Amino acid sequence: MFIVFEGIDGSGKTTQSKLLAKKMDAFWTYEPSNSLVGKIIREILSGKTEVDNKTLALLFAADRIEHTKLIKEELKKRDVVCDRYLYSSIAYQSVAGVDENFIKSINRYALKPDIVFLLIVDIETALKRVKTKDIFEKKDFLKKVQDKYLELAEEYNFIVIDTTKKSVEEVHNEIIGYLKNIPH
Ligand code: TYD
Repeated sequence: MFIVFEGIDGSGKTTQSKLLAKKMDAFWTYEPSNSLVGKIIREILSGKTEVDNKTLALLFAADRIEHTKLIKEELKKRDVVCDRYLYSSIAYQSVAGVDENFIKSINRYALKPDIVFLLIVDIETALKRVKTKDIFEKKDFLKKVQDKYLELAEEYNFIVIDTTKKSVEEVHNEIIGYLKNIPH
């Protein structure tokens, strides 16, 4: 199974995806990945270098092509849990002004996950939870990204979990509960 976690930073997706991978004995991975392109992306996200948003969208798509090869290899052996994937690009880059069809088109080689968990959170709580801020970590922007994610949740059938007033354990148990009900 290929399981993806999405959400804004501070939603708890890294903690929850790691916990689930451990529980399932799955391979845990993340985007931006640690490929060469992923390193360039991190440099841009830190605000050191500025590029056009379309360039950044292309870099995320390129990183994903490399990363997807690794995911496919791992899927032959075990389940894979991924912290951010295609839907991060659709949400963040479209809110940043890049045409959605362009984003979808450059990501046409992405895998279709078996399940996507969208973790949502009150924006103030999210900002409090996040220590190091990147170029996207601004209140109004994150609000729009989360709204876009909720729109995508309808389109792609995500499982949406609000983590605002819940403990790590409560959210984890909710996730396990959903997985138990999914035939595979
Ligand atoms: P993040 O999950 O915050 O990585 P880390 O915890 O290592 O800092 O992802 C970095 C940022 O990149 C985050 O603000 C979301 C953004 N992002 C996109 O805009 N598009 C994408 O396709 C991906 C994967 C991430």
